[in-house]
Amino acid sequence: MCPRLFPSGPECAKIACRIQKAPIAALRSTIAATPESRAIILRLLADHGRQHSGSYALAAFLMAISAAATALSAYLLKPVLNHMVQANGFSTLELLSVSIAALFLLRGLATYCYLVLLARTGNRVVADVQAQLFDHLLMQDMRFFQDRHSGDFMGRVTLAAASIRDTLQLLIVSAGRDILTLGGLIVVMFVQDARMSVIAIALMPIGAYGLSRLIRSVRMLARRSFDGSTQILEIMQEAVQGLRIVKSFNLEDVMRNRMRASVLHVEQAANRMSASMAIASPLADFFGGLAIAIVIFYGGWRVSMGHADAGSFFSFLAALLMAYEPAKRLARLNLEVQNGLVGARLVYEILDRPAAESPSASLPPVKVSRGRVGFEKVSFSYRPDEPVLNDLSFIAEPGSTTALVGPSGGGKSTILALLQRFYDPACGRITIDGMDIADAGIVSLRNAIAFVSQDVFLFRTSIAENIGLGRPGATYADIAAAARKAHAHDFIMALSGGYETSVGEHGLQLSAGQRQRIAIARAILKDAPILLLDEATAALDPESEQAIQTALDELRMGRTTIVVAHRLQTIVGADRIYMIEGGGAIESGTHSELLAQGGKYHAYFRMQFAAAEAKAFSADAAGRDARGL
Ligand SMILES: Nc1ncnc2c1ncn2[C@@H]1O[C@H](COP(=O)(O)OP(=O)(O)OP(=O)(O)O)[C@@H](O)[C@H]1O
Ligand SMILES: [Mg+2]
Repeated sequence: MCPRLFPSGPECAKIACRIQKAPIAALRSTIAATPESRAIILRLLADHGRQHSGSYALAAFLMAISAAATALSAYLLKPVLNHMVQANGFSTLELLSVSIAALFLLRGLATYCYLVLLARTGNRVVADVQAQLFDHLLMQDMRFFQDRHSGDFMGRVTLAAASIRDTLQLLIVSAGRDILTLGGLIVVMFVQDARMSVIAIALMPIGAYGLSRLIRSVRMLARRSFDGSTQILEIMQEAVQGLRIVKSFNLEDVMRNRMRASVLHVEQAANRMSASMAIASPLADFFGGLAIAIVIFYGGWRVSMGHADAGSFFSFLAALLMAYEPAKRLARLNLEVQNGLVGARLVYEILDRPAAESPSASLPPVKVSRGRVGFEKVSFSYRPDEPVLNDLSFIAEPGSTTALVGPSGGGKSTILALLQRFYDPACGRITIDGMDIADAGIVSLRNAIAFVSQDVFLFRTSIAENIGLGRPGATYADIAAAARKAHAHDFIMALSGGYETSVGEHGLQLSAGQRQRIAIARAILKDAPILLLDEATAALDPESEQAIQTALDELRMGRTTIVVAHRLQTIVGADRIYMIEGGGAIESGTHSELLAQGGKYHAYFRMQFAAAEAKAFSADAAGRDARGL
């Protein structure tokens, strides 16, 4: 008879029904953690689950086989034990043993297949997320990148993308393997002994309550740990890229301390997270152990009293013990999913940003007929209340050279940036042949411009590839011809690898002047109707500069050229010079007109001229001293 202490009849059936739904409830509680978490989980499943639904369905099928094999092996313990007790069916026992071995083999095979399948699908998910993230980053404008460190993006593309895979894996493995296995084993438990099953599982929700309290702290710690990891990437990157400065200024200690602080930060967050997550295991162990102890006591008592057969009891006990691990994993599921969702949030933060620059936008292309560039009352600032350009107006005539001069920080590079739409002006218009560039397709605009920037950037590849980027599909002969015009061919041929020589990260294996000549060759190869040169010859010796000036003079023919230079000898021949100061063009004219005006340009020229004269004088004096005159 069922003691009154325990439920019986319809009451027992009701509880049994509720308990059988426990694994589903565990998953539901994970999904329902917060509406925001639920939304991210559903989105992950919709984005990636749907795309790989075939693979996941196959994996779920294999998991079902594995779960069924596990449950069946527990179920078979009943006939095994009963045959042993009755000692009358050795051949049946043999059959049962072989069946159990076969079931385990089947379970092993199914497990191997779904693990491989899930790993491959997971890797595909990471690759998709990384490609998607990178595409999205490329569509953001300069302002987006301005305030962020590249380490942050690296973190998102590597750590966060991988955490999406882990979260999906966790959800699918738990939903598939653990819930199916647990479900199967619970069925076996109920088939063997419904009353004992009720007692064993009744202790589960108490443990689950303790776990839910840990979730918030895990979420916060996971975010902190990610921030610390990206900081480590940032410091590593800056220390390596700025190695010369680090060494020259003896900054090793400064960098070391920064690194130690970040590493410590991550370590502390990781320790606290491990502590939070580790509580989950003993909590589950305690309640699991308690359930097993009670069941053994009560079940053993019932068998000894003759209320139940030994086979059912052992089969039930085996199912309970086997159910322990998947139940424990399900109890921790919420914690681990919360940890992984931090990465998913970081990825979606980027993916949800509207593309600031969309190459596919249906704007008409820029049609450059003559290449007349006009700035009309353009105002611009990088930060609010700090105007850089103020009502700036000037014209760069087609086929001629327009020079921009002026004090450092006056806004010359900003003008070239606006013309390429790296930023948009706050007010005013920038036109090419009368067309506002804001109304034109951005790709066609940038195709029409060849740019040599003030800070030359080379990619970590060969010289030939770096020049070839000017015009994808250019032949080797085109590349060499451009290099010749940029006076780079001779030094390239003198390198042992010739055009195939790798330039190193940022091109740092070359001298500043060599880098500049490669950048000029790249622009020459592009052969665009508008040419922008920002201090393009600043790093060159007078002889190379003279030679490149000649090449650039040729290049300028028939193009609209805008040149920014501090050294006045590079711009004296310009068709028109604009003096840029205080955000506007304060003077304009040819070199001789500006000198005649006797204004700022004149003073600027005098200053440089005086410095050059003083230099020549001191060189002359040094020469005379040396000769003992
Ligand atoms: N990305 C940026 N974010 C914020 N401010 C910026 C940014 N780039 C430039 N500035 C500011 O805008 C102003 C103009 O800078 P710009 O680079 O156009 O000057 P420049 O005339 O080219 O100077 P230089 O002759 O030294 O190259 C400066 O005061 C500078 O500090
Ligand atoms: Mg500049």
